[in-house]
Amino acid sequence: MLKNILDKGYFSKEIKHSKDVLASFNIIKKFKLKNLNQRAGYSINIYDQLDNKIKTNIYSYIKKIVNKNKFIEKYIFLPKILKLEVLISSYIPSESKNPTRAMLWHRDADDIFSHIKIIIPLGITNKYNGMFSCLSRKVCHRLQYLKDEKFVRSLMDKSEFYKADQYRLSDETVRKKFSKEIFDFKSTGNDILFIDSNICYHKGGQILRRGYKRHLIIATIGGITHSFNPYFSESGLSFVKFFARIMKFYKKIKLNIEIKFKNKLINI
Ligand SMILES: [Fe+2]
Repeated sequence: MLKNILDKGYFSKEIKHSKDVLASFNIIKKFKLKNLNQRAGYSINIYDQLDNKIKTNIYSYIKKIVNKNKFIEKYIFLPKILKLEVLISSYIPSESKNPTRAMLWHRDADDIFSHIKIIIPLGITNKYNGMFSCLSRKVCHRLQYLKDEKFVRSLMDKSEFYKADQYRLSDETVRKKFSKEIFDFKSTGNDILFIDSNICYHKGGQILRRGYKRHLIIATIGGITHSFNPYFSESGLSFVKFFARIMKFYKKIKLNIEIKFKNKLINI
């Protein structure tokens, strides 16, 4: 498993959810979205609106998965569950034709060290209801960025909102250039995906058919330098925060040395 993460940056595996967990999933699937103040290009996170019992159930399930998958301890220094999201994506006509933000290929920038996202689809997911796709880390070193020139040109006459996607890649280009390196996580609802989304390009959440939906749990597991740690947003300087900053600074220097030997931007 560690080998898969080090090689490609992701891997999926089958899992048998317990009856109790499936009961929580079913409640989530019946959740009625109230106000649709959805950020364009992103799914809606309903985690905070769920009952405490379901939240606790999900948290302990993720904890169990983390404890069982020992590779996480080897991959991340002092791993912690930093964020739980329960996402619902629905059909939006404009986005089904013009994908933006998370629906385009991109990498996250949540940490300069390793992190893992555990992705748990709560039912069948395929290309019509926003399946998650990932691209092997082999195609691009973490210090290099892919630039989709054709896509950038297509944004020229669009609004500022769309122009902000210029560092993302279109599905058309990625499939044309790297078809062998893509993994489409078509899920039966009985499998989960582990991915370091800071080093792997990925995308998901674009619903192509009216009436279709996608329900997904995403857990972010990271170490002390991860930007989801609460002490990065708090004022005051605790020892942990101070230590984390030193670590981050050290890593930055190391990256700067490495970057000198890399060709930063690759046009595809
Ligand atoms: Fe992402």
